[in-house]
Amino acid sequence: MATTADIIARHDKHMVINLARWPVAIVRGQGVKLFDAEGKEYLDLFAGFGAGILGHCHPDLARAVCEQAHQLWHVGNLMHTEPQTHAAEAIARLGFGGKSFFCHTGADANEAAIKLTRLYGKAHPGKGGPIPGTSLKGRYKVISATRSFHGRGMATMAATGQPAVREGFEPLPAGYLNVEYNSLDAIKAALDEQTVAVIVEPIQGEGGICVPDDHYLPSLRKLCDEHDLLLIFDEVWTGCGRTGKYFGHQHWPVTPDIMTLGKGVGGGLALGVMCATERVADLYNVKKNGGVVKHATTLGGNCLATAAAAMIFHVLERDKLPEHAAKLGLHAINRLRTFATSHSVVKDVRGKGLFIGIELDPTAPGCWFKDGSEVVTRCREKGLMVNVSQKTVIRLAPPLIIAQDELDRGLTIFEEVLTKG
Ligand SMILES: Cc1ncc(COP(=O)(O)O)c(C=O)c1O
Repeated sequence: MATTADIIARHDKHMVINLARWPVAIVRGQGVKLFDAEGKEYLDLFAGFGAGILGHCHPDLARAVCEQAHQLWHVGNLMHTEPQTHAAEAIARLGFGGKSFFCHTGADANEAAIKLTRLYGKAHPGKGGPIPGTSLKGRYKVISATRSFHGRGMATMAATGQPAVREGFEPLPAGYLNVEYNSLDAIKAALDEQTVAVIVEPIQGEGGICVPDDHYLPSLRKLCDEHDLLLIFDEVWTGCGRTGKYFGHQHWPVTPDIMTLGKGVGGGLALGVMCATERVADLYNVKKNGGVVKHATTLGGNCLATAAAAMIFHVLERDKLPEHAAKLGLHAINRLRTFATSHSVVKDVRGKGLFIGIELDPTAPGCWFKDGSEVVTRCREKGLMVNVSQKTVIRLAPPLIIAQDELDRGLTIFEEVLTKG
């Protein structure tokens, strides 16, 4: 078998170096464990940016994908296939009853949602003035939050509230405003007659696991209703049981007009979902658009990815994994908060379910590191995979199948690293 050095050298020779990858080559995964090319074992508390929602090579998922691989892969979306329907039924049943469109990534799902807002703003123009680039009047502006992340396509980058993501790619499409997260007043102040939608993450992921106040999403829903705005919940991180509910917004008495999914919904296969209420989804309905196709993809919802999604929702329900995530998440947050009472290096512990952020304070007395990435490296050297965002927020997003003793083993390593390096 190739060594780590071989794999990395050949990678660097032939691949675009767009990411600062770790000097590790993973060759196998099993449950919450990863194994590298040198045979070293890791406990994976980040699950490939949360996408490995059932862990690595889950037997039911592996079986579903293998069986599907022997039956049918791809026919294109001019025909009907059953795995898509199974996945869409599960999303509707466990969510708010919407209608699903399948694509490949979280960014694709948000792009599909944003395109839908453009159609909505023309169908429901309100008092909107001229729309740039058209001879029409109506609405087209989308409000999003600072520190949000919605993808790296042109529209999703514009919606993303992180200047570093957008830098160098200007000019971006017009009509996007980023305002403070968790502030209804900020959204009210940004509204004008051409605003058509608001997109938010129920809990911000890339922004550093930011949980909004309990009134934020319900009052945002009310505001959107008052102004006929579409409310989009980007659940790319928070969907599929991650936060202790099937979908993150279910922590509050609120439903969106559009929900987007990615990451965990494919369990590691490329799948994105845009799920909209029937009223809104109908704007894409070819039968009501005089036969004109308004949005589509070639491979979106291919049989393998949607067979995986259908099995993921089956296992989430059968094994009560959202409840398990809620219970273990509470345990981990309590443990880390107790640790924080005697270790000033931990400034804050926040999250819901198995979506946890630990904000560190590198200026705390005796702290050995300057940046959270040093903590990530040290954890990895000790066989623990975690992640950092916003420089100082360590993120934990393990597979939902993790057992309490495995999670505790990881937390013990993490606490030791914080104290001793
Ligand atoms: C909330 C959110 N939305 C969208 C995306 C984009 O998803 P993808 O990387 O699959 O395009 C991400 C990626 O991290 C995300 O965190």
